[in-house]
Amino acid sequence: MTAPAPPTRHAALLAWVDEVIDLCRPAAVHWCDGSAPEYDFLCQGLVESGTFRRLDETRHPGSFLALSDPSDVARVEERTFICSKRPQDAGRTNHWQDPEQMKATLRGLFDGCMAGRTLYVIPFSMGPLGSPRSIIGVELTDSAYVVVNMRIMARIGAAVLEELGDAGAFVPCLHSVGAPRQVGVPDVPWPCNPNKYIVHFPEERAIWSFGSGYGGNALLGKKCLALRIASVMGRDEGWMAEHMLILGLESPQGEKLYFAAAFPSACGKTNLSMIIPPPGYEGWKATVVGDDIAWMWPGPDGRLRAINPESGYFGVAPGTSLLSNPNAMAALSRNTIFTNVAATDDGGVWWEGMTESPPASLTDWRGQPWTPASATPAAHPNSRFTAPARQCPSIDPHWDDPAGVPISAIIFGGRRPTTMPLVYQAFNWVHGVYVGATMGSETTAAAAGAVGRVRRDPMAMLPFCGYNMGHYFRHWIEMRRLLTHLPRIFHVNWFRKSASGTFLWPGFGQNMRVLEWIFHRCQGRIAGHEQNIGWVPHYEDFNSDGLEGFTRDSFDAVMAFNPDEWREELISQGELYLNLYDNLPKELIFQRELLAGRL
Ligand code: GTP
Ligand code: SPV
Ligand code: MN
Repeated sequence: MTAPAPPTRHAALLAWVDEVIDLCRPAAVHWCDGSAPEYDFLCQGLVESGTFRRLDETRHPGSFLALSDPSDVARVEERTFICSKRPQDAGRTNHWQDPEQMKATLRGLFDGCMAGRTLYVIPFSMGPLGSPRSIIGVELTDSAYVVVNMRIMARIGAAVLEELGDAGAFVPCLHSVGAPRQVGVPDVPWPCNPNKYIVHFPEERAIWSFGSGYGGNALLGKKCLALRIASVMGRDEGWMAEHMLILGLESPQGEKLYFAAAFPSACGKTNLSMIIPPPGYEGWKATVVGDDIAWMWPGPDGRLRAINPESGYFGVAPGTSLLSNPNAMAALSRNTIFTNVAATDDGGVWWEGMTESPPASLTDWRGQPWTPASATPAAHPNSRFTAPARQCPSIDPHWDDPAGVPISAIIFGGRRPTTMPLVYQAFNWVHGVYVGATMGSETTAAAAGAVGRVRRDPMAMLPFCGYNMGHYFRHWIEMRRLLTHLPRIFHVNWFRKSASGTFLWPGFGQNMRVLEWIFHRCQGRIAGHEQNIGWVPHYEDFNSDGLEGFTRDSFDAVMAFNPDEWREELISQGELYLNLYDNLPKELIFQRELLAGRL
């Protein structure tokens, strides 16, 4: 094995790397410095090995397309484990196995799994380098694709090692695609293993991931560290790791507020975080701090402060267009890695919804010829772009400020074809926690499995909470005591449909109208209408000026309260409550009773 001297004297890190080399037996070791030449070298290697195709340099400078194995296209929730010592610490909404048994299984799988491959050591920082709020991890992976994606999504390399010093704490993240190479057999473009394990050891703060090279399964700083492990750290240390976008909103008068919003995977976080105020909102400004993850803690002023621990966007491609999200289109216009989108004949990319009509011929995400007559989508529904955050034109000036930004409102929302109105406000913090805890949403292509079934997805954290969901709700309720200025809590639904199946709300840029109502509510400027589910806007206070075809009847339809649907809603919350019955905070039980009483 070739292995130049490691660029650190961190004894624990060196010992762990040696241990992994002994177990996985790679052919070489590469310590990532995070530099541009290293990135270019790895990308060129990926082009030569057939994983990457270089896109046309004038239309997509510095950008590449990767097509994954058709079996490795999304997060695998059924194969994701929280291996706490006691099963009740993982809770019934997580998959649990005994940590010692799981380690034994994993050691068997990792044994020799990197044969013929290079082991990359990626020191990374979630959060700005050097910030006391940041968490350092080290990912050991046999995938160069993972290295180049991690360089966009997190701060990586020599500067992180320096920050770590000789004895700093780090979260060990071991990753393998689980595809050892045999001598003389050519490699496949997307190595992976049908047997997948995404495993977290919350007490030990360690992550082991086997068998997948895709997204949250493999870029371990993202969901595994910044949500599952960080949520456990937040519980222990009095802060929160949440599946939330962060956006800034500035009124024409120059008042600026920040909102955080939790929507489940592929339910519109990237879109809302990069919103452009539509015509009629001259003088308003919207800026993005983050599109997927928020770390939030009580600041010295008693307000909730938030940072985005990431430095890039791993965004859903389908549906992204110059009409729906011009800021995302600008962010991905260069230095971007596309995965599982379609390729045009002249070195460009395409996905469903990018243009009104598709090009006459494409190569689809499976690498097959595609025409508009084809029966299957050209891009995979969970195809993604990996783009640097600073390339987004609406990036907030404080997006990487270690002090974070103060949060005035927390917004929950999901894909709900029925029941949920366009917007309502919770009566108070504990009611807001109940609203978030009982959130529901249709499943999407972001996870393997059936799509379009409404499930309970508390705070959009069902797949990402690293501990018992009941304890997590308790932690949310407790946060109230640590804050003197509580954010107001709201619930939105862009996805309500008419009986004939069309969306009742135009969405996208027009969501600004809902943000404006939330903004004024936070400023205590307009009265709400007290309804049984919460505060809702009076029609007169909701700005629908210039919204073509949107009448008072349209407003009433998208805001409608239907007692039969709410009855169903309460009953279906019962399933979640049963799952958590022994750990559910009493406050949430009472909130449900109160709602039932009001209904
Ligand atoms: P993850 O990255 O998976 O966590 O998801 P995300 O929440 O960032 O999802 P994203 O913003 O990429 O959502 C993409 C999907 O939501 C696409 O199918 C969009 O068309 C759809 N979408 C986003 N905003 C709206 C909206 O206002 N109205 C409607 N109807 N659809 C929307
Ligand atoms: C999600 O599924 O919520 C994502 C994409 O943000 S992934 O990183 O693959 O988890
Ligand atoms: Mn996400």
